[in-house]
Amino acid sequence: MLKHQSKSIVLIGYMGAGKTTIGKLVAKKLGRKFVDVDEEIEKEFQLPASKIFETFGEPAFREREQSLIASLVRQDQLVLSLGGGAFLQEETRKICLSSSLVIYLDLSFERWKDRLDLIIDSRPVLKGKTIHEMEELFYKRQEIYAHHHIKIAVDSGEADQLAEEIVKIVKHNRG
Ligand code: S3P
Repeated sequence: MLKHQSKSIVLIGYMGAGKTTIGKLVAKKLGRKFVDVDEEIEKEFQLPASKIFETFGEPAFREREQSLIASLVRQDQLVLSLGGGAFLQEETRKICLSSSLVIYLDLSFERWKDRLDLIIDSRPVLKGKTIHEMEELFYKRQEIYAHHHIKIAVDSGEADQLAEEIVKIVKHNRG
């Protein structure tokens, strides 16, 4: 097997871009294990992310996020979904980019707004923000998502189709 094909796949992108949904499908299609980093952190704390932020603060969440990702990317053959803020940490960017295939799920702000109702209550980073502030954060975050190997436009297409696109890229070694 080519080295590229055995690397773990790391999905990045803004909250609500579809990292978990698409990641699960990619993992299933490739017969790989899927790990949602947020879910792992929530399991450890036995709290949803919003409560972790509230009770322990964002730095505690970020610290655990960083160390968990660092230990996960040491393993090959995983499909990982990262929280939208994980790439804020340079160490995390470096370790993912050097060990894994980093795929950025690129969603436009217009399409993102359509999904806002579905995600707003569970995302502490959006809490108390106006739509204008959320838009600012959206564009600010583009800087960290610029660090990737492959970009997939997710504005159109069903999750399954998008997952298939990723699978083809991985299998055909076009990364
Ligand atoms: C965050 C995104 C969330 C979660 C936490 C912080 C962020 O993950 O890690 O609420 O800073 O963008 P999703 O991108 O899966 O929503």
